[in-house]
This record gives sequence, structure tokens and C-alpha cells, in this order.
Amino acid sequence: MSVLEEKRILLGVSGGIAAYKSPDLVRRLRERGARVQVVMTANARQFVTAMTFQAVSGRPVREDMWDPRAEAAMSHIELARWADRLLVAPASADFLARHACGLANDLLSTLCLASEAPLIVAPAMNRQMWAHPATQANCKTLSSRGVHFLGPAEGDQACGEVGPGRMLEPMEIVKRLEKMIEQS
Ligand SMILES: Cc1cc2nc3c(=O)[nH]c(=O)nc-3n(C[C@H](O)[C@H](O)[C@H](O)COP(=O)(O)O)c2cc1C
Repeated sequence: MSVLEEKRILLGVSGGIAAYKSPDLVRRLRERGARVQVVMTANARQFVTAMTFQAVSGRPVREDMWDPRAEAAMSHIELARWADRLLVAPASADFLARHACGLANDLLSTLCLASEAPLIVAPAMNRQMWAHPATQANCKTLSSRGVHFLGPAEGDQACGEVGPGRMLEPMEIVKRLEKMIEQS
């Protein structure tokens, strides 16, 4: 039995090309018994549809802070309390910057401020974006606040470059998450 059994994972998906791997991540988490609630940013919808996530997670996807029906069913604060873990994969440079600044200007960033659950991020971006001093400073700030980083990995990138910035593969994220929970 996996330590993920019955764990409530709020999976944030931000707007990076690696979002195409996130439905597979949902499948792997659910195979281990986790309950997965997906929250997408507006930009993530450019890469993958909410319908895909709904199909693989078995739950309606939360996309918008200003959705009266979703808010009535489970308010964003209830959703923040529901989560055992917040996992953002892919975590874009923009998401990392917003959270480092404490912004709460969309549903995902608001949930990250409103939740007491540990936050785990799997960054994914072009190697120059990852190496940029602004991104590195944001990551340092987030690490100092207890945010856990999974990756990024190094290798071929969607943009044709090679270097650090790739999102870890879904199975690797799951394995590291399990290890983290075992050690907590
Ligand atoms: C084709 C394309 C691919 C992109 N891939 C990434 C990426 O892998 N990582 C990243 O940080 N930003 C990427 N971006 C830029 C983000 O989508 C942009 O910074 C956006 O503001 C992120 O918003 P979000 O964090 O709210 O989802 C990409 C943009 C385009 C047009």
C-alpha cells in the first residue's frame, strides 16, 4: 500500500508546455490511492483542457476564483483546508514569482497562501528562464519558507535547447512525493 492512499492532493497546473504530462501525473497519483483535485491557471488552459483533467481525476476541475457554483459547492478556503498536500506541476517561472511575492491574484496563488498544507513544486521552463537571477532568487525565497522543490531535471527541452529546466517525469514526481510523505 502506498503512503499516498487516501491522501488529498491539490494539483496545481500552471502554464508551461510540460502541462501535457500532468494528466499522466494525475493517473499515477490515483493509481496509488490518492484523491486528486486539479486547479488550473488560465494560462494552463492553453496547453491542456479541463475536460482531460476531469476525466482522469474523476472530479470537476477548479479554474476560476469567480465561479459561483464551484464556490458554493466548496469555497476556495474550504478547498485550501481540504488539501493534505499542494503540488504544483508544472510550476511556471511566473507562478514561482507570484508566490515568492505573496500574490493572490488567481485561484491557484490564492490557495497557496490560504493553505497550511505543505507546498511542493516541480518547476518547468526554458533553461535561460530557470537560470535567470530573478527565478533563482524567487526559488531561494520559496525554499527558505519551506517550499519543497522536485527538480527540475536536465536534458532536451521542448524549445530545442538542452539544459536544466525540464519537469521531472510524472513517475519520478510520485516516487519523490511518496518518499517525502514517508519521512514527514
Ligand atoms: C508555447 C509556450 C510555452 C511556454 N512554456 C513555458 C514553460 O515551460 N515554463 C514557463 O515558466 N513558462 C512558459 N511559458 C510562458 C507562460 O505561459 C507565461 O509566463 C504565463 O504567464 C504563465 O502563467 P501561469 O503561471 O499563471 O500559468 C510558455 C509560453 C508559451 C507561449
